[in-house]
Parts: sequence; structure tokens; C-alpha cells
Amino acid sequence: MPLACPQSLKNTSLAHICMLINRAFQGYAVSIQMTIDVLLRKIQAESIDLERSVGLYDEDELVGVLLLGYRGTASYNACTGLLPAYRGQGYADTMYDYAKTHFLNDGILETHILEVLEANTSGIRLYERLGMQKTDFLYTFFLTLPQQSKTDFLGIRPLSYTDFFEFYNNEKIFGAECAWQNAPLPGLQSGFSKAYGWYAPDTGELSALVVFRADTNTVQYLNVLTEQRLHGLGRLMLAFVQQQLGKAPLRLLNVSARNSSVIYLAKALGAELKFKQWEMQTRLK
Ligand SMILES: CC(C)(COP(=O)(O)OP(=O)(O)OC[C@H]1O[C@@H](n2cnc3c(N)ncnc32)[C@H](O)[C@@H]1OP(=O)(O)O)[C@@H](O)C(=O)NCCC(=O)NCCS
Repeated sequence: MPLACPQSLKNTSLAHICMLINRAFQGYAVSIQMTIDVLLRKIQAESIDLERSVGLYDEDELVGVLLLGYRGTASYNACTGLLPAYRGQGYADTMYDYAKTHFLNDGILETHILEVLEANTSGIRLYERLGMQKTDFLYTFFLTLPQQSKTDFLGIRPLSYTDFFEFYNNEKIFGAECAWQNAPLPGLQSGFSKAYGWYAPDTGELSALVVFRADTNTVQYLNVLTEQRLHGLGRLMLAFVQQQLGKAPLRLLNVSARNSSVIYLAKALGAELKFKQWEMQTRLK
């Protein structure tokens, strides 16, 4: 039986981490093709810190990873993967024990959060054993909208990071928190996410906005001012994203079951429900 030890990932190359992820997720329900570019953007988008993430090593070979993201008092499991020969022997627990001892009990962190596919019953059992509880149910939709005339989008303009930030913090906005992977600010700061706003023609007020990633066709954030809802703006903003992306289906990733307005919108637009995941969390202190 192979014997492997956990360590920080700080001295492991991105190429080795990519190779491990591709091998660990071969045949997985959600297909993953990791490249260095994709991994670098994942690291930025999900606030992953490789120094405070875990690698499992057999001699010098990387055989498992636990990628961890950090934001304020929250930490996030961005990926758990083991090579097939190392599964079923408690190594996921080993990696978590190492993370808890070395990174997660730093006195600042309060919560640990992750997502797991609804059908992944062994994963759910593992995380429950580790003290995690189901806290939300997340839906991923794919949808393709018909191309619209450019004149429909005349009120839509690009938003700078600062404009978006101001709107994002505007207390008039009522909306659920984004799932970890959809947080718009890291992608806007790094330049791989784009933000656009719709300005009301009569008042000039910024009334709807959308943030998306063209590299993954993902809509990360969509919001319409409460008083402007149900007048077609949500649909318009998504049609605009579709126009920017061409024919590729848009992805609405990890929409919380609590975010009923987005779920209604997805259904009204004929979106296909692709994945269902549990969000699980534990308190660290
Ligand atoms: C989801 C949201 C963007 C929809 O915007 P909107 O401008 O109200 O939507 P639209 O008027 O374009 O509606 C499009 C379709 O969805 C349906 N729909 C939208 N919201 C609905 C609701 N709350 N209940 C029922 N149906 C709804 C509409 O009836 C319409 O269907 P139709 O074309 O068959 O008539 C808006 O409600 C919102 O901003 N919610 C908060 C989102 C949030 O929390 N964001 C932060 C995390 S991403």
C-alpha cells in the first residue's frame, strides 16, 4: 500500500498541480481540462493561496491536492483530488488534518466552506465526518439566448472597477450573496471579468448590471434595482452577454436555492439545469 505525506504546495510547480488535477478528475461528472492559464485564473478568481494549500506526496511525486482559498474570515475548499491508487485510504482526511493544524486554525478564520455535487455521496459522507453541514443548495444552468438587434443594447455601457464597486456596495440593492466562485471583484481587478451597466434613459440612473467572464462563458453577477424588476432588464442584460460571447451557451454557475428570482429568470428563459451541488460549511472556532 502506498504511503504518502502532506506538505504545503508552495514548492510545487503549477505544471505538476495541473497534471495531478487532470489525472484525479479523469472521468469525473464535470469534465476538467486544467492548463497553467486556467489554473492561474482559478487561483485569482477563487483567492487560492498555494502556500496555505496542501499537496500529498509519495516520495517526490504529487499524488493529491487540497486547494484552499482565503477571504477575510472565510476559507474555501477550491479542489480536493487524489490519484486513483490513493483513494479509499483516508488521505483526504490526512490532507484536511494537515490543513487544520497548519493553516485553518490561525485565530482569524471562522468558517470553512465548499461545494460538492449532489450525486457525490462518498464526498458528502467525508465532509460530514469532518464536521461540515449542508448550508445551501446550488444550481448550475446553461442557456442560449437568441441574438438581438444592437439597438436594444444602447443603454448598456462598460463599468469601471470603481463604478462597479460603488454600485455593489449600494444599500438599495437587494440580492443574495454570490457563491464563492462567482465573486466579481477578483476577476474585475485582474481583468478577466467584464462589468456592464444599464442606465435608465429618463433619470440616467445605473439600474442593472452584469459581470461575466468571456473565458468560461460564465455570468458571475446579475442584478436589477428592486424597483426596476420584471420589466425585461434581466433578460436584456443576459441577451447582451450572449451577444458578447457569440453562440456559446451562457453559464449561470452555482445559483443559490435562496436566490429565487434568478431561478425564475433562468426557467423563464428556457435554461437547462446542468448540475446540482450542496454547499457545506463548518465553523472553525
Ligand atoms: C433575477 C433578476 C436579475 C431578474 O431581473 P428582471 O429584470 O426582474 O427580469 P425580467 O423582467 O427580464 O424577467 C425575465 C423573465 O423572468 C421572469 N422572472 C424574473 N424574475 C421573476 C420572479 N421574481 N418571479 C417570477 N418570474 C420572474 C419574468 O417573468 C420574465 O419571464 P417572461 O419573459 O416569460 O415574462 C432580478 O430579480 C434580480 O436582480 N434579482 C436579484 C439577483 C441577485 O441576488 N444577484 C446577486 C447574486 S448574482
